[in-house]
Amino acid sequence: MNIIKAQKSKISSVDFENLKFGEIFTDHMFVCDFIDGKWNTPKIIPYQSIQMDPSSSVLHYGQAVFEGMKAYKDDEDCIWLFRPDQNYDRINKSSKRLSIPEFPKEYFFEGLEELLKLDKDWIRKGIGNSLYIRPFVFASQAGVQASASNAYKFIIICSPVASYYSGGDVYVQVAEQYSRAASGGVGYAKAAGNYAAQFYPTSLALKEGYQQIIWTDANKHEFLEEAGTMNIFFRINDTLITTPTSDRILDGVTRKSILKIAEYLGIKTEVRPLSIHELISSEKEGILKEIFGAGTAVVVSPIKGFGYQNKKYILEDIDDSFASLLKEKIVNIQYNQVEDPFQWRYEVKTT
Ligand code: COI
Repeated sequence: MNIIKAQKSKISSVDFENLKFGEIFTDHMFVCDFIDGKWNTPKIIPYQSIQMDPSSSVLHYGQAVFEGMKAYKDDEDCIWLFRPDQNYDRINKSSKRLSIPEFPKEYFFEGLEELLKLDKDWIRKGIGNSLYIRPFVFASQAGVQASASNAYKFIIICSPVASYYSGGDVYVQVAEQYSRAASGGVGYAKAAGNYAAQFYPTSLALKEGYQQIIWTDANKHEFLEEAGTMNIFFRINDTLITTPTSDRILDGVTRKSILKIAEYLGIKTEVRPLSIHELISSEKEGILKEIFGAGTAVVVSPIKGFGYQNKKYILEDIDDSFASLLKEKIVNIQYNQVEDPFQWRYEVKTT
């Protein structure tokens, strides 16, 4: 790999106490080009703008996928990733669906390690602080012919982050008109367009006082599938329920880790479809105790209430929250505060 170091770090100009999610980027980026049928030698260069032809395929047809991962620093300054193999596998799964060539594993891991070695000072200690890592790949071929590109760029950029939401209770609106994904589509992939298509319906929900949308099945808007950019969990009585993965649902790393931790703690889990009717009847019976979202960026995000057919349902606060317990457990593993019974932590060698 070719490495060109930044001449001067930007780090001293960063206000780490007031970080907004994903606004500031570190000193370096990883770049690898797919040209003439193969991925070329990757490089790490100072963080910079990229030049593109206005006809570049991605700008017209959205042939692009991404990942979200985090690096954490423990009390001894060791740096950890959480299940990075899952992100590697998933970006290739997403790529396959978007007709993008698979990225070599050694390039991905070497790229991450070298980048984190160079930008390790950007990772702050303390639970809640981390470096959000954004690998992405897009079609870079010039020309507006509507077919898979023959040139791609794989890039990794990193952004120091604290919490995703700026605080306050989160309310979600159950989708009755718009859909995020349909069977046979790209819902399971981290395709850029899956996110773009959420912006407009989410802006409408925001006007009605909801921060996110609970996406429902595109067929009947009956089954609850995801919440905004997160997977979704429900606690009915003391059972934790989440939607099964399918071609419409993102196979979230946090989702599957939460399920494993819950089982390990002896919490009863059910992976099954849950309908809006069951949600409302559980709320009426007083047995719907919690709803929360799970994802890399948010980790676990409690949902205070939901709106459906112009009615707002608000959950009562509880003392023994599964969301808090599971968040604490997963975060402690991520920050190397406890044993890792699942062997999910991956140490990044920085010397
Ligand atoms: C993540 O949790 O990494 C996501 O994909 C959310 C992102 C769109 C901010």
